[in-house]
Amino acid sequence: MRLTFVTTNAGKAAEVRSLLMALGIEIGVRAIRLTEIQSDSLEEISARCCEEAYEILREPVFVEDSGLFIERLNGFPGPYSSYVQRTIGNAGILKLMAGEENRRAYFRSCIACKLSDGPVKLFSGVCVGRISHEPRGSGGFGFDPLFIPDEGDGRTFAEMDVKEKSAISHRGKAVRLFAEWLKLAR
Ligand code: IMP
Repeated sequence: MRLTFVTTNAGKAAEVRSLLMALGIEIGVRAIRLTEIQSDSLEEISARCCEEAYEILREPVFVEDSGLFIERLNGFPGPYSSYVQRTIGNAGILKLMAGEENRRAYFRSCIACKLSDGPVKLFSGVCVGRISHEPRGSGGFGFDPLFIPDEGDGRTFAEMDVKEKSAISHRGKAVRLFAEWLKLAR
């Protein structure tokens, strides 16, 4: 079965492809820009994007929606993470967090998959950690230089290679659940 990941984010595509490849699942990637509805729910956003991707391609597809939720900012930027990354960026987040002692944050990932005309299936993963005081590392993408996962050794995601990051990341967790289901569904 051909399975296509629809995303315009090259960083996500690389992570998801290498994770699934290691689990024996090959995918294609299509950079189609989908309509992202405004919602506080990653599940709702990814499910709608998945329906749209399936309407366009009419073949087994999946999408992933993710975000960074910062406790002191009441969950901001959350589902608006890509917009915030494009506008104020990492420097803007550090400015908002200047002088803040509570730096707790988490990433969430939600994968939505539609193999046929049936319902959309959802899989999610969480990675808890904290926001660094300065950007560190050159790997990964987005907020990676600012995020220090609790399950790690004090390095930011951007200081890890893809394999190290995926072993503990929100996306890695969601993809592993997705892969388990795929193996049964195919
Ligand atoms: P979307 O899922 O395309 O709406 O984008 C989510 C945004 O959240 C990305 O553009 C990044 O800015 C951020 N993001 C999501 N996952 C990660 C990650 O693993 N590392 C760093 N930033 C991330």
